[in-house]
Amino acid sequence: MCGITGYIGPRNGIELAIDQLHRLEYRGYDSAGIAFPQNGGLRVIKSEGKIARLESLLEGEKTAAFTAVAHTRWATHGKPSHDNAHPHTDCTGRVAVVHNGIIENYLELRHALQERGHAFSSETDTEVIAHLIEEQLEQDLVEAVKKVLPQLRGSYAIAVLSTVDREKIVVARKDSPLIIGLGEGENFVASDIPAVMRYTRRVIVLEDGEMAVVTRDRVQVMRADGTPVQRDPMEVTWDESSAEKGGYPHFMLKEIHEEPRTLRDTLRGRISQDGLVAFSDLSLYPDELRGFRRILITACGTALHAGMVGKLFFERLLRRPVDIWFASEFRYGDPIIDESTLAIIISQSGETADTLAALRACKEHGATTLGIVNVVGSSIAREAHHVLYTYAGPEICVASTKAYITQLAVLYLLGIYLAQLEGRLSNEEARAMVHEVQSLSDRVEQVLKGEEQIIHLAKQLAPSTCFFYLGRGYDYAVSLEAALKLKEISYIHAEAYPAGEMKHGPLALVEPGVTVVAFATQPSTFEKMVSNMKEVKAREGFVLAVAPEGHEDILRHVADELIVLPPVHPTFAPVVSIVPMQLLAYYIARERGCEIDQPRNLAKSVTVE
Ligand code: G6P
Repeated sequence: MCGITGYIGPRNGIELAIDQLHRLEYRGYDSAGIAFPQNGGLRVIKSEGKIARLESLLEGEKTAAFTAVAHTRWATHGKPSHDNAHPHTDCTGRVAVVHNGIIENYLELRHALQERGHAFSSETDTEVIAHLIEEQLEQDLVEAVKKVLPQLRGSYAIAVLSTVDREKIVVARKDSPLIIGLGEGENFVASDIPAVMRYTRRVIVLEDGEMAVVTRDRVQVMRADGTPVQRDPMEVTWDESSAEKGGYPHFMLKEIHEEPRTLRDTLRGRISQDGLVAFSDLSLYPDELRGFRRILITACGTALHAGMVGKLFFERLLRRPVDIWFASEFRYGDPIIDESTLAIIISQSGETADTLAALRACKEHGATTLGIVNVVGSSIAREAHHVLYTYAGPEICVASTKAYITQLAVLYLLGIYLAQLEGRLSNEEARAMVHEVQSLSDRVEQVLKGEEQIIHLAKQLAPSTCFFYLGRGYDYAVSLEAALKLKEISYIHAEAYPAGEMKHGPLALVEPGVTVVAFATQPSTFEKMVSNMKEVKAREGFVLAVAPEGHEDILRHVADELIVLPPVHPTFAPVVSIVPMQLLAYYIARERGCEIDQPRNLAKSVTVE
């Protein structure tokens, strides 16, 4: 998730493109850059670090430009660095491209371009676009872009500037957002509406598969094949701060609503044409992967809870011991690690001090380390032997939501991949599982449609002083994460328990005013969960059951309230059942007037041990 901006008009485009960029910094902030016409060519200035660093470089530039495109990056392909920062240019320096998204077939395109003599100066997927446009540039820029778009697989929002036609910015989008702000004798381009709100409230939202030619006085929208499209501008009425949150009152809610899309981004390019897992981005060879006798997972907080689902999944599928360790306990417990251990280190930020220390300890003991990380170029991503990125985009709210969902998706893909390699799944079985994983984004979308019910439940449950979350197997792993979400942001005491353990102590705490959330997504333990709900009811606790559709008749008898999930394969239920719990925690916290995005005493990235 990066931010792109552009300006064309009578004012200083450099200043305006940068000012817009600042308003998109929530979309990424590891490097930034700008391109504008100068002395018959294109001048590109970029730098690693935040936009402020780019600005300090621009201070020396006495020049003004009437056209500019700019970019703030959240690395996906290639670490944050000067060379990988956008804009990217072609061999001749006549084309500059800023891009948000992922070009899935960039390796293929890059090899073909290199064979045709193109020299690359970055590791990014984006640079291929500049070189492809270069090859078509004997005609005008619009025609060149039109010819290139069909060659790109994946997602993109691009803005292109060229010396061939300096009076234009050509933009296009597929699966990544792009808007055009309409001014008087000037126009703006941006990833998101907040960037342009200071200048105009009239906005054209480009749809998937569309491109546009933006000049000072005109915006021509067309399909990617050139067919003209009539698009009326919309009038933006939100205030600026809610616009940054996509119109949501908090980043947490925005990030929950981003989950279907982030799930699709995580899977992008990792599933082959024939429906099997194909990690083109995994540097571990199949033979190496087959050779590990033990698997160890370590992480903190939400990432650890994702790891717990991973442990259950791997053990069931691979029939191999999988240890899981709180990274903060790692050095005190002397875990069994040797050279035949694959150590999986999960972290959203890639900077958590305890997790980083655990990673280093694993390496010292000879394990092969694989990071599952969101922030590209972070310490864990750099220090682990191998990395799989989760592609959740920046997560701003301290309480992790979309990052957790994408960690689960990567763990599922990894498990299926290992099982494929080891012959533990036939192609048909693997394909069926992959298909389930692919359908999770639609299921999550369905859950999000049930938000009204959760708002209502939150009003009812906000006065509770104590919550228990119960489940068995996968449902217990989800209970841990659901309880963490509630305590983090609403400050209500919440505990997760394996449902069968309640009778060994915690049941003594159940009385009126205590809420028990009972997950019943696993057919094999469904009846036992029903008994556990009855035990709570008998002690006058309030029971909220969470189960897939089809069990309403039974559950309405034993539970006070019921959240019905869309049908989902039990193995993959955690991705779906956590979503209403994230929403419930959010709305309860709101009812209680809590801070939400920055809960007291907590930090997004804990870099102290
Ligand atoms: C902090 C955050 C949690 C997060 C944990 C691990 O405690 O508040 O939301 O789960 O760190 O962070 P990581 O970035 O390593 O996933």
